[in-house]
Amino acid sequence: MNQDELKQLVGTAAVDFVKDGMVLGLGTGSTAKYMVDALGKKIKEEHLNIVGVPTSERTKKHANSLGITTKSMDDVDHIDLTIDGADQIDKNFQGIKGGGASHLREKIVAINSTKNIWIVDKSKMVDKFGSFPIPIEVIPYGSRQLFKRLKEKGYHPKFRMDEKKHVITDSSNWVIDLDIHEIDNPRQLATDLEHMTGIVEHGLFLDIVNTVIVGRDSGPQIIQVR
Ligand code: A5P
Repeated sequence: MNQDELKQLVGTAAVDFVKDGMVLGLGTGSTAKYMVDALGKKIKEEHLNIVGVPTSERTKKHANSLGITTKSMDDVDHIDLTIDGADQIDKNFQGIKGGGASHLREKIVAINSTKNIWIVDKSKMVDKFGSFPIPIEVIPYGSRQLFKRLKEKGYHPKFRMDEKKHVITDSSNWVIDLDIHEIDNPRQLATDLEHMTGIVEHGLFLDIVNTVIVGRDSGPQIIQVR
């Protein structure tokens, strides 16, 4: 199976975890898009009562186009389950997210969810982080100074651009990718980034996921993490 087929496989498999009456966090990205497609179908076929909390404007639009009711994080009092993609998952089931510049809302939704499922094709499973840059969402004001400080720390920052313009997040911020080749201690890196003024959120998702569904040629592999 090619990567796209594996993404579709896990996106479809994930909706088996959806039960009637749930408030569901809806992830962002190409894998999560397949999950939203499958969810739309399941809601229609089984006449389910589901409220989706989208993690991006993109996902909101897509969900609404399929007839899925959505609410903002602030208009629900809890989220039962969030299903989202990930850019990489290491051997300790820590994750990197934000390849699609949505990790701020994704993290807000994830930490307010009773359970989190990540859906990934097999290429996202790695032993150790280092090959995928860590996205950080930054306040545009003063970001050139922040960039310099990140550079001095050896984090190899790069502003994320679309043609010649800064990529702008749903919260009107910018994104910097940190191309750090050796990440021996993700926790230490996360703490360091959390202490830098101007960074709104980093893409390290630590101790968050409960279940990982990996797309393999033999079928979806379901891993219960915690
Ligand atoms: C969005 O910012 C990301 O966190 C995505 O969830 C992640 O990049 C996975 O995206 P794909 O499913 O498109 O690889």
